[in-house]
Amino acid sequence: MTKTLILILAYLLGSIPFALVVGKLGYGVDIREHGSGNLGGTNTFRVLGVKAGLIVTIADILKGTLAASLPVLLSVDIHPLFVGLFAVIGHMYPIFAGFRGGKAVATSGGVLLFYSQFLFLTLIAVFFIVLYISKYVSLSSMLAGVYAIIYTVFFTDDIPLMIIVTLQAAFIFYRHRANIRRIMNKTEPKVKWL
Ligand code: G3P
Repeated sequence: MTKTLILILAYLLGSIPFALVVGKLGYGVDIREHGSGNLGGTNTFRVLGVKAGLIVTIADILKGTLAASLPVLLSVDIHPLFVGLFAVIGHMYPIFAGFRGGKAVATSGGVLLFYSQFLFLTLIAVFFIVLYISKYVSLSSMLAGVYAIIYTVFFTDDIPLMIIVTLQAAFIFYRHRANIRRIMNKTEPKVKWL
């Protein structure tokens, strides 16, 4: 398989809109018409509950992990983080859902899960610490992205990792523009279960 084909495959994998699939097939609900309208785990939790939210979040993480593992699985000499980035792009702009997808968080995490389990676990810890303090999922997602940059810059000398986590964080901030406005207006919904 060529490098171009593996990138296309990763994009298509990332494009699978699990929030849409689980919502429509499992509940007869198009979650784009409810809550924040986002095709992601958080909005699935919000609209359809814990079970559906967990399924979508895990599936969105694993499609990133699978995309990053494609170079090993298919024996293609291309950096796994670069391939994983195409799954993140697919998740945000899915060809199977009118190019209106999620906010890059879970799939980015899944890519990092393949590459550095320590970084992934500490990202989860940062996410939940910020969530416990702030009650904002969106803020927790963005600060986890900032943490990934700080960690890679100060505690590794892995240039590809620094580049990819910086791009992931930039995507995450860009896709959270409406959330940032709502946080500043104090209209962003807080989680109630923490
Ligand atoms: O991962 C997305 C999350 O950070 C925010 O989702 O639905 O509250 O905009 P949402």
